Amino acid sequence: MGEGGTDRRAERLARKIEASKNKQPAKSKAKEKAQAKEQERREAIFNAFSNFYEQEYGHERWQTLIEALKKPVRHCIMVNKYSNTDDFKTRLPTLPELEPLSSFVSIPCFGIANYNANTTEEQRFPPPQKDGTGITDYYILDAGSVLATEALDIQPDDRVLDLCAAPGGKSVSILQRLGEYGSLTVNELSPDRRRRLRQVLDGYLPPKDERINVMGKDGTKWYSEPEQYDKVLLDAPCSSERHLLHDEKEFEQWSPKRTVHNAERQLKLLKAAVHSVTVGGLVVYGTCSISSAENDKVVSKMIRKGKIPVEVVKKSWPIGERTKYGWIILPDMTDGWGPLYFSILRRTGVSKNEERDDEDDE
Ligand SMILES: C[S@@+](CC[C@H](N)C(=O)[O-])C[C@H]1O[C@@H](n2cnc3c(N)ncnc32)[C@H](O)[C@@H]1O
Repeated sequence: MGEGGTDRRAERLARKIEASKNKQPAKSKAKEKAQAKEQERREAIFNAFSNFYEQEYGHERWQTLIEALKKPVRHCIMVNKYSNTDDFKTRLPTLPELEPLSSFVSIPCFGIANYNANTTEEQRFPPPQKDGTGITDYYILDAGSVLATEALDIQPDDRVLDLCAAPGGKSVSILQRLGEYGSLTVNELSPDRRRRLRQVLDGYLPPKDERINVMGKDGTKWYSEPEQYDKVLLDAPCSSERHLLHDEKEFEQWSPKRTVHNAERQLKLLKAAVHSVTVGGLVVYGTCSISSAENDKVVSKMIRKGKIPVEVVKKSWPIGERTKYGWIILPDMTDGWGPLYFSILRRTGVSKNEERDDEDDE
């Protein structure tokens, strides 16, 4: 091949290089555009979220609340009475400096002393450990969750139902209050989460504890066992806004419609919870949502529309704020605890007629 051939090949190569050079910026421009669009979409969701809650809390309160919600979730440790607490005491020097939360919960729980927003990851609690007999020594959870179980006023011999129980923090808290003749039925719809729940209960209780019964029912339709329990905890699935703010992917799923959908499901669950409790017994309805649509408004609908009569039990607690039908713990007012809403309802009678409470669910 002569020189002409070499030139043509060189020209072709040069053209290819030039074309690829031109293509490169076009590609990254498209990427940049897509990224900008994505950013805009996220900002739109955040603005809608912020406007929604600003309307509910007012501008000033919302500014402090959102800042508090963005901070890392605060936890306490709840000591497990079924473990060897002497073994736990030997761990104390290796734990961060602890302060008892006895001013607002009656079972042994501890927070980090002098907790503030600058408390670092290293200062937080190390994972729980097994004692000499294989039982886990403590559970890490929000102190608001412990307070919600405090509100159930559990007596040692109570028959208790935890209608939406996984992963099981509140079940473990209920068990700290039950005696040997009490019983706890834990229910969880999701098989994966139910598996996790069983693991938790196995880890925190001595083997073959006959007081426990694990169920996998859809709590919105649980109408087979009327008046079976003295106390029912309904820790309902909810918008869980603080959690969303710490998870970009999940945050994108937020919409006001979701709140409406959650509220419908919550009311169905609450009707079933009230159906399961004895006349005179208590239901604690709780969520970790900051939306009144998922909190007081669900309770209000239960009172107005439910066929089974209930009354609100009004109580005050050392942390948190009163709402129309219950109590809410919000992190801007409680050194970082919450959010946790709960309302205590006492069943006051039998069905107003023979129909079941789910029959007019639209
Ligand atoms: C807020 S979480 C419960 C947290 C739990 N109480 C604790 O303290 O560890 C709500 C749970 O309800 C479950 N759930 C959702 N819909 C349900 C239904 N229809 N019946 C029963 N459980 C349901 C969810 O899978 C989720 O595990």
